[in-house]
Amino acid sequence: MKTTQATKPAGDTRNPPLLEVNKLRTVFRTNDGEVYAVNDLSFRLEKGETLGVVGESGSGKSQLVLSIINLLASNGHARGSIRFRGQELIGMKPREINRIRGNRIGMIFQDPMTCLNPYLTIERQMTEVLMLHQGMDRKTARQQSIGMLDAVHIPDAANRLKRYPHEFSGGMRQRVMIAMALLCQPDLLIADEPTTALDVTVQAQIIQLMNELQKEFGMSIIMITHDLGVIAGISDNVMVMYGGRICEYAPVFELFQQPRHPYTRGLLQSVPRLDLAGNMRLHSIPGNPPNLLELPAGCAFADRCEQRLEICSREQPALRELAPAHFSACHREAES
Ligand SMILES: Nc1ncnc2c1ncn2[C@@H]1O[C@H](COP(=O)(O)OP(=O)(O)OP(=O)(O)O)[C@@H](O)[C@H]1O
Ligand SMILES: [Mg+2]
Repeated sequence: MKTTQATKPAGDTRNPPLLEVNKLRTVFRTNDGEVYAVNDLSFRLEKGETLGVVGESGSGKSQLVLSIINLLASNGHARGSIRFRGQELIGMKPREINRIRGNRIGMIFQDPMTCLNPYLTIERQMTEVLMLHQGMDRKTARQQSIGMLDAVHIPDAANRLKRYPHEFSGGMRQRVMIAMALLCQPDLLIADEPTTALDVTVQAQIIQLMNELQKEFGMSIIMITHDLGVIAGISDNVMVMYGGRICEYAPVFELFQQPRHPYTRGLLQSVPRLDLAGNMRLHSIPGNPPNLLELPAGCAFADRCEQRLEICSREQPALRELAPAHFSACHREAES
C-alpha cells in the first residue's frame, strides 16, 4: 500500500497538471470563533478531466471552489497553495486573478441569476465579456455570442440574443449561463450544483450538453452535485468530502463499485442501480456533521461511524492510496 508515492490526488511534480491544490485551508472568522471550512485538502486535476465533488451540506464543497477562484466572503481566508497552469493563485493581485477568472476559469452556479444581470440583454452581457477580456470589436463579439448560444442549443440564437434573462425558461437560462461561462473558452469550468433547480429531463439535457462541450472544447470540469446520477454521467474521478477534508477519492466506476470509506458507503446506501432511472440523491446518514468551529482531533466522521476503532477519535487518518488512484482516509483500511 502506498502512502507517499500517490499519483493522485497529491501527485508528482514532473508534469504540472492544470490545477494543483496543496494543503488548502480555508477559515472564516466569525463572532463565535474560527470556522474551519476546508482543511488541509490536496488534489490535482488534469487537462480534460472531470472531477465530481460530493458530500453532505456544509462539507466545504462550495468554499473549496470559491477559494480556487478567490471569491470567498470577506471574513474568509485561504492558505496553502493553488496552482493553476503552474501559476500560484493564492496571494495573487485581484486584478490578475480577475483576468484569469474571466478568461481561463468559467463558473456556473445553481441560480443563473447570480451571474446574469436582469436589467441587461443577453447580447450586452455576452458581448461585453468578449470585448473586455478578449479585446474584440462589437460585431465580432456578437457573432461569437451567437455561435456560443448555438453551441448550447438555444434555438433562434440571433433573435434570442436581444432578450432579457427573465424572458428565458429555467433550463434555457441555465444554458445561457453555460454559454457565458464558455465564451472565452476556459481551461477549467467550475459548476456548483448547476442542475439542482431543474427538472430531471432538463437536467439530463444539461449534463449531455456539458459532456458534448467538453469534447468540443477540451476543458476540465469540477462538478459539485448532490446527485449521483449526474456524478455517474459526467465524472472521471470523484472526490467525497467530509468536514472540509477528502475522505475518499477514486475513479468514478471504482467509487460506485467498491466504496472504501464508511462515509462513502453510507452515502451510496440504498442508491438504485446507476443504469436505472430513479432517486439518485445521496442517502442521509444518521447523526450530525462535525462542528467546524471545533474540529475533533481524530477522524471527523468517528461519531457517526459504525465501524470506528479506538484510534479514530484520537488520530486523524491519512489519505492512503489503497488501489491505483483510489484513496481513502480511514484507520480501518490502514489496518487491513
Ligand atoms: N462567510 C462565512 N462565514 C462563516 N462560515 C461560513 C461562511 N461561508 C461558509 N461558511 C461555512 O463553511 C462551511 C462549508 O460551507 P460550504 O458552502 O462549502 O458547504 P457545501 O458543502 O457547499 O454545502 P451545500 O451542499 O449546502 O452547498 C459551512 O459550515 C458554512 O456554514
Ligand atoms: Mg454548496
